[in-house]
Amino acid sequence: MKWLITGLNGTLAPVLARQAAGHGVQVLAWRREEVPPEDAAASQDWLHAQRPDAIAHLGMGSAEWAGRLAEYAAGQGLPFVFTSTAMVFHHEPDGPHAPGDARNAQDGYGQYKRGCEDAVLAAHPGASVVRIGWQIDPRQPGNNMLMALDQWQATQGRVAASSRWKPACSFMQDTAAALAGVLLQPVAGVLHLDSNAQEGHSFLEIVHALKQAYGRDHWDIQAHEDYVHDQRLVGGPARVPALSERLELPAARSATL
Ligand SMILES: NC(=O)c1ccc[n+]([C@@H]2O[C@H](COP(=O)([O-])OP(=O)(O)OC[C@H]3O[C@@H](n4cnc5c(N)ncnc54)[C@H](OP(=O)(O)O)[C@@H]3O)[C@@H](O)[C@H]2O)c1
Repeated sequence: MKWLITGLNGTLAPVLARQAAGHGVQVLAWRREEVPPEDAAASQDWLHAQRPDAIAHLGMGSAEWAGRLAEYAAGQGLPFVFTSTAMVFHHEPDGPHAPGDARNAQDGYGQYKRGCEDAVLAAHPGASVVRIGWQIDPRQPGNNMLMALDQWQATQGRVAASSRWKPACSFMQDTAAALAGVLLQPVAGVLHLDSNAQEGHSFLEIVHALKQAYGRDHWDIQAHEDYVHDQRLVGGPARVPALSERLELPAARSATL
């Protein structure tokens, strides 16, 4: 079996590629320098030559490219997973956010991802649009909460964390395992993957737990209440373990929500 995974120079795709290898799946990379995604004809030719068995579109790039990839997968009857984001939801109205909620992103990134979601779902009725939160990993460089906090400490001399933000977030290994599961057993439509969905920990609590778990004794954590958002991605079966299975955090929070 062969999966095309886009975005392999990025943060999450290499973690998914390692999951794929664990399933005995061969990984096919899209090299944009060799096949420009904007070149629709060359892209089609390349896809027909490579004949992947499933596509995981984790790369950025245009909504048009996302739609064309999904269209190819639909034509071949292939599983197709697109990674979207909690950022398709603005903080007003507040969450938690369910798959069918109105996507009201105000910023460019959220609006861009919304356009990609629409292009994918229009092209492939069986596609999985998987919304995820901020990813965490002790080693993987890139867009990674733990490393962003390291950077905040290095550049700002402190780690400012809101006690009134409940972020959507998950460990990359868990997200990648869930994405692999969806590729192996496709689920049509919009799915939410969030390890904070049930427990609802605040960003401040998560930052303290990461500090403890990863020996960041030098972090100067400063609590604030400036950002207020219950960003959790809820709805559907839990496909990722709860944060309390990965960090020293209380597990029974959901009972008090
Ligand atoms: N990391 C997170 O915390 C997080 C949170 C929510 C959602 N997501 C979503 O998860 C997916 C993977 O995220 P990520 O953190 O791995 O992303 P990333 O680190 O920013 O990597 C994105 C990759 O997309 C590819 N790409 C394709 N077209 C591009 C273009 N026009 N400009 C720039 N890059 C382009 C590049 O890989 P190639 O050179 O290999 O093509 C790039 O390395 C994305 O869909 C992202 O929106 C991530």
